[in-house]
Amino acid sequence: MTFRALLVYGVFGISFSYAQNSQVPSVSTSVSLSSAASPPTSTVAAVTDPASFVIPFVGTTNGGHVFPAPGATLPHGMAKVGMDTDSPGNHAGYDADPQFNATGFSQLHDSGTGGAIPLSNFKLWPFAQCASFERCPTSINGRKTSRKLLANGKPDDFASPGYFSTNLSNSIRVELTATRRTALHRYTFPDGTKNPRIAVDITNDGSQSSTNPVMTLDPNTAQVVGGASFTASFGPGRYEAFTCVSFKGDGFDLGKPTEFGAWLADFPVKGTTNIAQLYFGFTDQLGALFTWNPAPRGKTTILARVGVSLISSAQACANAEEEIPDFDFERVRTENRRQWNELLGRVQVDVTGVEKETVQLFYSSLYRTHISPADYTGENPKWNSTEPYYDSLYCNWDTYRTLYPLMSLHDPSRFADIVRGMIDIQRHEGWLPECRGATAQHFIQGGSNADPILGEFFVKFHDQAAAMGVSADDLYTALLADAELQPPNWNLQGRQADIWKRLNYIPLDMFDAGGANTKQASRTLEHAFNDFAISQVAKIMGKADDGRKYSQRAGNFANVWNPNTTVPGAPDVLGMVQPRFENGTFNFTDPRHCSIHDPDHATCFLNAANRDGFYEGSPLLYSQYVPQDTAKLIELQGGVEKFVSRLDFLFDQSYFEPTDEPSQQMPFMYHYANRPGLSTQRARQTIANFFNTSVNGLPGNDDSGAMGSYATFYLAGMYPLPATRQFLLSSPYFKQISFFNPTFNTTTTIRNNGFAGNPPTGIGGRVFVQSVAVNGQQYKSNCYLDWDVFTNGSLVELTLTDNINVTCGTGPEALPPSLSTGGYD
Ligand SMILES: *[C@@H]1O[C@H](CO)[C@@H](O)[C@H](O)[C@H]1NC(C)=O
Ligand SMILES: *[C@@H]1O[C@H](CO)[C@@H](O)[C@H](O)[C@H]1NC(C)=O
Ligand SMILES: *[C@@H]1O[C@H](CO)[C@@H](O)[C@H](O)[C@H]1NC(C)=O
Ligand SMILES: *[C@@H]1O[C@H](CO)[C@@H](O)[C@H](O)[C@H]1NC(C)=O
Ligand SMILES: *[C@@H]1O[C@H](CO)[C@@H](O)[C@H](O)[C@H]1NC(C)=O
Ligand SMILES: *[C@@H]1O[C@H](CO)[C@@H](O)[C@H](O)[C@H]1NC(C)=O
Ligand SMILES: *[C@@H]1O[C@H](CO)[C@@H](O)[C@H](O)[C@H]1NC(C)=O
Ligand SMILES: *[C@@H]1O[C@H](CO)[C@@H](O)[C@H](O)[C@H]1NC(C)=O
Ligand SMILES: *[C@@H]1O[C@H](CO)[C@@H](O)[C@H](O)[C@H]1NC(C)=O
Ligand SMILES: *[C@@H]1O[C@H](CO)[C@@H](O)[C@H](O)[C@H]1NC(C)=O
Repeated sequence: MTFRALLVYGVFGISFSYAQNSQVPSVSTSVSLSSAASPPTSTVAAVTDPASFVIPFVGTTNGGHVFPAPGATLPHGMAKVGMDTDSPGNHAGYDADPQFNATGFSQLHDSGTGGAIPLSNFKLWPFAQCASFERCPTSINGRKTSRKLLANGKPDDFASPGYFSTNLSNSIRVELTATRRTALHRYTFPDGTKNPRIAVDITNDGSQSSTNPVMTLDPNTAQVVGGASFTASFGPGRYEAFTCVSFKGDGFDLGKPTEFGAWLADFPVKGTTNIAQLYFGFTDQLGALFTWNPAPRGKTTILARVGVSLISSAQACANAEEEIPDFDFERVRTENRRQWNELLGRVQVDVTGVEKETVQLFYSSLYRTHISPADYTGENPKWNSTEPYYDSLYCNWDTYRTLYPLMSLHDPSRFADIVRGMIDIQRHEGWLPECRGATAQHFIQGGSNADPILGEFFVKFHDQAAAMGVSADDLYTALLADAELQPPNWNLQGRQADIWKRLNYIPLDMFDAGGANTKQASRTLEHAFNDFAISQVAKIMGKADDGRKYSQRAGNFANVWNPNTTVPGAPDVLGMVQPRFENGTFNFTDPRHCSIHDPDHATCFLNAANRDGFYEGSPLLYSQYVPQDTAKLIELQGGVEKFVSRLDFLFDQSYFEPTDEPSQQMPFMYHYANRPGLSTQRARQTIANFFNTSVNGLPGNDDSGAMGSYATFYLAGMYPLPATRQFLLSSPYFKQISFFNPTFNTTTTIRNNGFAGNPPTGIGGRVFVQSVAVNGQQYKSNCYLDWDVFTNGSLVELTLTDNINVTCGTGPEALPPSLSTGGYD
């Protein structure tokens, strides 16, 4: 992507403005000298409008299932209002491919998920030219309409943080914005529209799963209240959702509707006010339809305010009235963007000397980090509590690795609220949540991965936890529930704890009541890491015995290591994680199983019939998944040289899959072999090969921000180790990058001395870290940064070289810690 930089010398320093192109929002990138959030020694211009670099369309084809494009949400907002299409491949409703037609504009979405299509509740739909009220095609198939196409063949859709607009082929313009629990829609009808109409659809959620719909409309005000029960996306449960829709003329008095009525499929029934008045035995598609007089002059523009609630339609009305009493679209949109800019602006990059696309990729990735989980506080129907309630934990398995450690750096108070919500769930349900959507428990992916999330919070913020409302004792109690108590159904939360405690691995041939016989080998690795996180908390809390106990259990991964397993054709790759029977003998799963080289072309998705022992990854990839003790893994794999050549084999043979979260760390694993240059190159190749700003610029699902936060870390030149004090270090893609942490009121800047840009393929370049200085002093390692670098607020200076043969250094603490060699205490 090309861009022009205009240099403008102001009184206080340098500012930049970018030439606009069609993909860039029309709001100009205004840049001025930084103030509070900039590093003390820096004269770099701050990015004051980071939202203008966000391209919400990234990942909206190719299975990215990304919500935000196009759609409007606050950071972690509950209302996520967006366009739905008839695309079968997009769970968040939107598809950038114009062959798919618009079916509605709905209020709730998840981002980047699998399962059945989640949410997408309460679609609205405008009509400009029905033959008559009764002949409006209100059903989801009847009404669907293609989008207007631009000259370049793309749909005429626009999105930026907090705002979406589209022009339909029937010349109706639709604009959307949102507050936390309320969406605001603006429909502009074409010139000459005599009978502007809008339908409200109560029943067609994304999976068309509604039962027990209720709806009434007010013939005078056109307010619609209603709700229904819907299926959960990835679990056995259901949830109820409610809405409250009100209308207002934009710049004119809308008056009473001239026609109103409930509808059933394609049959609006004029004069009805309640679906109970309709016979609806033969269809589950129901809603309301209104006709109004057009505006007295000019185009007719009608605002629709849509409150949502999981408690009641009365609460949906109260939410809407509280959050958007004035129906002021521009105010809501501006305030939404202000919140995004405040959040995104806590991370500042120096835009000089890098491609504009790199800056866009960075802020778009950071943006997607803040879509889920969503703040459903006050909307949990299951129990009364004054604690925060976050939902859309879809799934902790995806997000614990990178999303929460990124929050540690720049959004700790939100992180604290999410942790409080998780602890509250444990208090009421007995176990911490693993996967969750719209209050329903979803299927676990493997571990009890709230453990490393709580561990991450506590390791980083134990001294601030109480002030942030997190009780250390309650947090610890919640962790122990996962670690020690077997739940009635460990497919939905917790673990197969009894067997874990007895055997120290999960055997292939024992599955007690309440769980499916799947993914035993990978669950063993997960529980080992989960227990590592608990040991980290125990040690900080002064519970030395527990610390030792859980550290020991963290070593249980070795119990599923078969030293004799090899890969066909690569006898040097010796030793592999394998499924193991209760009697101690191993079963055999081909290490290529469910990789691209799997001769059986199997998948490892959730399937109770799978007897392979692994989840969403091959044994080869899982054999690299021991983040807590890479030193031990090196030993099991036959020493440093064999470890490095195995990593090379995995990359060179394309076994590495960035979509598979357990292997996300792999590019950085050369650090532990004292070859950080190789990590830097592999990490940069990962970005070059799999991430870009186009609509298919994600390698798969965004997984609720897992991929967004992953790319953010890679572009920042770091990879986090959750529930530890360490961040593995490489070189950022920018001359410098700064993280402002509001809890500590400190800014830490990582600066590349000798920065010469980023090689587009990720190969070579002056990008390898030769030495590291923190606040002018040589640092103990070139391979990681400790947390106190960030809490203190530091200037980290990296000296770069083009020699890939750099090392972590020579001192005793040069290599990153591992359980078996120390450094975590
Ligand atoms: C989308 O709409 C266009 C025109 O409105 C129509 O030709 C096309 O068949 C529709 N596509 C689908 C998948 O229904
Ligand atoms: C839609 O049309 C309006 C004018 O009619 C125009 O201002 C806008 O840029 C178009 N595109 C989008 C995505 O809103
Ligand atoms: C919450 O409290 C209200 C008021 O006391 C009560 O009506 C409601 O049933 C409670 N809800 C739950 C889920 O306990
Ligand atoms: C691996 O092979 C060695 C040598 O044949 C044998 O002694 C050992 O029991 C084997 N281990 C496993 C787990 O099969
Ligand atoms: C261990 O159990 C497996 C599965 O039941 C069985 O196939 C195998 O023969 C057993 N091995 C021994 C040594 O008992
Ligand atoms: C052992 O592995 C084979 C091949 O993966 C599989 O078909 C079989 O079901 C497994 N045995 C058990 C008892 O799970
Ligand atoms: C963007 O990345 C995807 C893979 O993630 C790739 O298929 C596509 O070709 C890339 N597009 C560009 C413009 O580089
Ligand atoms: C945060 O630090 C800045 C200086 O870096 C200072 O001006 C400001 O008062 C501090 N804010 C708080 C709340 O301590
Ligand atoms: C951070 O500050 C503490 C207390 O002043 C100090 O002991 C520590 O060395 C500092 N760490 C770094 C990396 O500068
Ligand atoms: C790095 O080391 C490798 C192997 O030892 C060597 O072949 C290569 O020339 C070295 N590269 C540089 C830039 O020194």
